[in-house]
Amino acid sequence: MNIGFIGTGNMGAAIIEALSGMEGITLYGVNRTRSKLEELAARTGLIPCGDVRELTEKSDFVVLAVKPQQVGEVWPAMVPALSSDKCMISIAAGLTLESLQQSIGHACPVIRVMPITPVLVKEGVTAVCLDDKTLTQEQKDAVQRIFSPSGDVHIVAENLFDVFTALIGSGPALLFHLMETLIESGVELGIERAAASRMVKKLFRGAGIMAEQSEQHISLLKEMSIAPAGTTNAALAHFERTAIRGNIMDAIRKAYERSIELG
Ligand SMILES: NC(=O)c1ccc[n+]([C@@H]2O[C@H](COP(=O)([O-])OP(=O)(O)OC[C@H]3O[C@@H](n4cnc5c(N)ncnc54)[C@H](OP(=O)(O)O)[C@@H]3O)[C@@H](O)[C@H]2O)c1
Repeated sequence: MNIGFIGTGNMGAAIIEALSGMEGITLYGVNRTRSKLEELAARTGLIPCGDVRELTEKSDFVVLAVKPQQVGEVWPAMVPALSSDKCMISIAAGLTLESLQQSIGHACPVIRVMPITPVLVKEGVTAVCLDDKTLTQEQKDAVQRIFSPSGDVHIVAENLFDVFTALIGSGPALLFHLMETLIESGVELGIERAAASRMVKKLFRGAGIMAEQSEQHISLLKEMSIAPAGTTNAALAHFERTAIRGNIMDAIRKAYERSIELG
């Protein structure tokens, strides 16, 4: 399987790194800044192409990994080299299947994908939209193989992409914000910043692994560490009285509404 990446920036490079060395996969790439492409090629075995047209001709799957506002520069070289047996995978946030299909003149099937930054450490959560009726079963299976080395892959219908974007796409920054707030709380109460930072990072990692590995519902895991009239209970009761849960749900809804506006 030949996979060509147009754009080897943060996301493109992370997906390529995860795929590098996999049997049966040949990776091609183009990037506006050539030096970035060549460094990546030296690290991963990716084959640099001269231009978008050459890359598209060589690839079974063409991954569009430039910024949404940069896609217009790509079409003139890409579209003439597309054919119905190829497949375009777009990771460009907000670009719908319909707009992508219009841009390429329905030249081949299109898959819309939404990765998140933890793909950089192969612990991503990636949404894959397989709504395009012209996709073959082989292409549907292949896209899951392409993204599974970067973390978990979920098939998400396009009408739920804005929900995924709000909940999971915004998720890393929301969790980093929470981590930062906990670190600041530790510092305020007397722990050195570096130590508070190490403690909070491990706390997230430990709780995340526990939640992932346990068969029990999250509510039961939470209950395990709450003693009546204890410290955790005091903090959680404050959360409930100040409607933190409702606030978080409203924040996700705000992100959802913004995603619809931008889309
Ligand atoms: N970062 C995220 O958290 C995230 C999450 C989900 C989806 N996405 C999507 O992923 C896509 C890429 O985002 P990113 O964060 O990886 O951006 P990025 O780091 O700016 O990468 C974009 C790359 O595309 C290259 N490029 C631009 N125009 C080009 C052209 N005409 N031909 C060839 N290469 C070109 C750029 O080259 P230069 O080296 O010259 O800049 C750059 O390396 C975006 O569409 C974004 O919506 C990102």
